Amino acid sequence: MKKLNLVLLLTVMFYGWAVADEGMWLPSLLNKLNIADMQKEGLKLSAEDIYSINNSSLKDAVVALDRGSCTAELVSKDGLLLTNHHCGFGEIQQHSSVEHDYLQDGFWAMSREEELSNPGKTVTFLISVEDVTAQVLADITDATSDEERSKIVRKVSAELEEKAKGDTHYETYVRSFFSSNKYYLFVVETFKDIRLVGAPPQALGKFGGDTDNWMWPRHTNDFSMFRVYCGPDGKPAEYSENNIPYQPKHFLPISLKGVEEGDFAMVMGYPGRTTRYETSFGVKSIMDVTNEVRIDVREKLLDIWSDYMSTSQKARIQYASKHARSSNYYKYSIGQNKGLTNLKVIDKKQAIEKEFTDWVNAENGRKEKYGKALSMIENSFKNQEIDKARAYVGEALLRGPEIFMFANRAQSLLELLEKPEENKDKIDRVISSMEKGMDEYFKDYDAATDQKVVGTLLKLFADKNAPQYYPEFFSTVQKKYKGDYEKYAKKLFENTIFDNKEELKAFLDNPSLKVLKKDMALSAAADIFAKYREISDKAGENLKMRSEGERLFVEGLMEMKPDKNFYPDANSTMRLTYGQVNDYSPRDGVIYNYFTTSDGYLEKEIPGDDEFDVPTRMKSLLLEKNYGQYADADGKLHACFITNNDITGGNSGSPVMNANGELIGIAFDGNWEAMSGDIAFEPELQRCINVDIRFVLWVIDVYAGATHLIDEMKIVK
Ligand code: ARG
Repeated sequence: MKKLNLVLLLTVMFYGWAVADEGMWLPSLLNKLNIADMQKEGLKLSAEDIYSINNSSLKDAVVALDRGSCTAELVSKDGLLLTNHHCGFGEIQQHSSVEHDYLQDGFWAMSREEELSNPGKTVTFLISVEDVTAQVLADITDATSDEERSKIVRKVSAELEEKAKGDTHYETYVRSFFSSNKYYLFVVETFKDIRLVGAPPQALGKFGGDTDNWMWPRHTNDFSMFRVYCGPDGKPAEYSENNIPYQPKHFLPISLKGVEEGDFAMVMGYPGRTTRYETSFGVKSIMDVTNEVRIDVREKLLDIWSDYMSTSQKARIQYASKHARSSNYYKYSIGQNKGLTNLKVIDKKQAIEKEFTDWVNAENGRKEKYGKALSMIENSFKNQEIDKARAYVGEALLRGPEIFMFANRAQSLLELLEKPEENKDKIDRVISSMEKGMDEYFKDYDAATDQKVVGTLLKLFADKNAPQYYPEFFSTVQKKYKGDYEKYAKKLFENTIFDNKEELKAFLDNPSLKVLKKDMALSAAADIFAKYREISDKAGENLKMRSEGERLFVEGLMEMKPDKNFYPDANSTMRLTYGQVNDYSPRDGVIYNYFTTSDGYLEKEIPGDDEFDVPTRMKSLLLEKNYGQYADADGKLHACFITNNDITGGNSGSPVMNANGELIGIAFDGNWEAMSGDIAFEPELQRCINVDIRFVLWVIDVYAGATHLIDEMKIVK
């Protein structure tokens, strides 16, 4: 009783001074915008220690994985990388088979030779960032039309990119910020030989599964390890036996000291997309179109995939990665709609719009420049029917069924094969590109399941959209099959070569126009894409109007509050967010502690369950309390902790660092009560969920016995 009171008291005091730290800041601007504040909050480093283009700095240890779909960090001088289990999931799954089920059993390379290569996987280092707004906008005035503006931006950007690249092997790109009000030039270096080093069994790495996903309290041991390889000259190279481990300019030391409430914490990484300057009209559209359509379609899709996955170990491995990807944002959309409603985000947006409108109307010059911004945005959302149709095509026709996207890769052959001699080179190129991914594609494909998906989702599409949005073949289904989409799907799968590796291979060995011409999947795919283009063209005018309105709105907002430090929306460029280790109250009368421990595995265990089973070895180590050097001062093995850092998708795998820039955790999720956070940050509720680095090291060392990997790291006790 006493202890609880103390906790409550401390919490209240804490909320008194804690600054909940909204903002995804550009590391190159810390010196100008944030460093004083960060040091006041506890940071012991300088801005130059974090981002420097002359000396090694923290930014050299943080990389974009797969162009920013996740983040990873270097933790040894030999290119060892840490990221999330769910960021390595695709590779772990791809290397798995019934004989080697790395998803189920985990994987550990006990020597460098055993590390597994992953063609296509990339790691990108940031070399430098430069504000090029002045150059990009030099010839643009308020009178420039938006079309002309885009042309100039494209042209100047291309020149800047080319100049920055010079004769280096770097990649360069200019990206727009603040809805096209600012521009930055990025120089980056991408490595292409990234090998899998280790992963815990999915019972740990995905503990809690979809049930716990997007939720706190959490116990997931969400990490996996890779290694960056380069050519013998230290430069990026495609996989080769001769490649060597890359020696990074910086790697993160790892702290075993643990965290306490109120501790300074910062996260660097590659947040993908936020829309914090979204208007009330945009929020409505996200709720009623994007999220509703996604939920409607994926509910059905995931049911069909789950049914199949429960039939055998092979089936479970085949669809594990696709299922996890789809269910992740399915649940996100459900949570986001709840959050947007509960937290009255539309009201909050309307209040900002009112303030903006009053400010605009107070002066004629402003009225002229910004007066139309909000109505442009509002009008751009007026045709909801077409926005919905577009979302349904994406979810139910292109991304749900697998066969249409796959078949479509052969579309160009229809024309090329009309003149096989003349087009021989082009034909060979299409064929070899199709052959390339074929084995992997069919390894994870079940035609009977896909047929069910096609039947179900075509019907759903027909039920939910007006006939003017139907792809052409829908009229055949209506007439010839009396609207029976299942029957049509059956026929389609009987009359295609794209559902079967042997048939497709035979065709590619000996391509014939006749075969393609009567292929039902190929012709349906052509109809789907034709309709998609038609719908997108129509929606395109609205998109142009919207982006012009948004550019003016954001420019106006910044002019309205000249003293405020604005941060740009996430756009898959490197950002830093800082804050504290911090608990929260999810609802009246309840406080969630800021950390969980491995005791939660024993509490949550459901033997044999695919989300909450605890492997025998895990259980006995936990019962023995065999925590090695990784126990907290409280004697327990801490599993996860939360901070008020501002993160989003793409940040997965990001390093959570203490005031000295040492690794204390890996960020992997956000929390249910603030799923609206990508649109409006919620200081009281929004938390970043991290796996405690000591739990990660315990699994590598004690659970898996991969002590050689620990020896590579720099441990700070
Ligand atoms: N919600 C996490 C993220 O988006 C992914 C967690 C993956 N786990 C799962 N059960 N699907 O980063």
